Amino acid sequence: MRTGTVDRSISQFSVRLPQRDDASTRSYPIYIGQGVLSMIAPAVSERGLPKRIVIVSDEHTASLYGDRVHAGFVNFGFRADRIELPAGERNKTPDTVRSIYDKLHALRAGRDSLLVAVGGGVIGDITGYAAATYLRGIPYVQVPTSLLAQVDSSVGGKVGVNLPYGKNLIGAFYQPACVFIDVGTLSTLPGRELRSGLAEVVKYGAILDAALFDLLERDFDGLLHPDLHLYPDIVKRCCELKASVVAKDEHEAGLREILNFGHTVGHAIEASTGYATYTHGEAITYGMIAETYLSVTERSLPADEAGRIIRLLDRLGPAPFRNDIGIDTMYQAMFGDKKVRSGNIRFSLLTGIGACTFGHTPGEEAIKNSLRQLVSHVKEQ
Ligand SMILES: NC(=O)c1ccc[n+]([C@@H]2O[C@H](COP(=O)([O-])OP(=O)(O)OC[C@H]3O[C@@H](n4cnc5c(N)ncnc54)[C@H](O)[C@@H]3O)[C@@H](O)[C@H]2O)c1
Repeated sequence: MRTGTVDRSISQFSVRLPQRDDASTRSYPIYIGQGVLSMIAPAVSERGLPKRIVIVSDEHTASLYGDRVHAGFVNFGFRADRIELPAGERNKTPDTVRSIYDKLHALRAGRDSLLVAVGGGVIGDITGYAAATYLRGIPYVQVPTSLLAQVDSSVGGKVGVNLPYGKNLIGAFYQPACVFIDVGTLSTLPGRELRSGLAEVVKYGAILDAALFDLLERDFDGLLHPDLHLYPDIVKRCCELKASVVAKDEHEAGLREILNFGHTVGHAIEASTGYATYTHGEAITYGMIAETYLSVTERSLPADEAGRIIRLLDRLGPAPFRNDIGIDTMYQAMFGDKKVRSGNIRFSLLTGIGACTFGHTPGEEAIKNSLRQLVSHVKEQ
């Protein structure tokens, strides 16, 4: 998978996508390391991408990193404009996408434009969706600045926005032209957001990589106080794992569903709380706890391994669980999930640490029982 090294501190590998009917090869590079921000303009130029740039960032990432990315493009002779959006999951809506269309129109940005998403997963998902749909599709690149976006959302081409009754219900599979991951940006990430991103890292260990899971258990305290020496390898490993899954199943026809471990319950928690109480990572932390319990009853996940997963998730310290949500409310919210088929709620469940299977449809009582176990677990904390 790896194709080369740009310089000693930056590694590069390609996401290779399944062939289309015309048998053409499709792939795009991911650059990971310290100082990647300064190579974006030259790399975009080298790859023959449009020279008309529109950078999309949010109210936090605009001044932290958008300015620098913008200056890099201007210094390299590009025409670069800016769009700044309000931050946060509550703004991941069709209205925000509409505001991007309006600004692109006002800037007279045509099909020869490139969108550059500088921010967390919210900015990446919204910008990617705007790129997929504006003028029937213009290219975009991802510059993820949160840990969650670096290890997960910037890779794989799932883009979209929420509706009030469900997460990511409008969207597309639309791959970026490049992904630029500067792990140096993690130094400004608030602790809560870092822990939120670590939830997705724990997910990769739990579903695909027992060695990564062991490393997280061992080095967890160091990771909470960003030791930037540990992050490049961890971010790269997660991207490799995600790229290997996407290479086999770009459109989530099967295997890619394993990446949703913890997300069936997690998305229901987010929807039940109006996307306002928890970060995405916190919601899936609780989702993974419930789905670990479900894995014990439905997939015979050994109790000692379940205990290790739940202890590691507890160490992430998500915002306190809201006991007012109610088991029935969470259960009903799961029917808004994209994965529901023929009225059945689908889960990806573990058989062991590092081993996950998909397409499970437990009965109502089993699902509600795992939610009750989650609620009683959080009460004991
Ligand atoms: N497309 C996918 O495959 C995929 C996968 C997983 C998650 N997601 C989506 O990702 C979103 C969550 O992403 P997120 O956790 O990055 O949320 P986010 O984009 O809201 O970022 C979290 C906060 O951190 C701030 N921030 C980002 N980088 C920063 C930095 N370096 N320094 C300081 N502040 C910074 C942001 O401004 C924001 O306030 C959810 O909408 C989720 O559905 C998508």
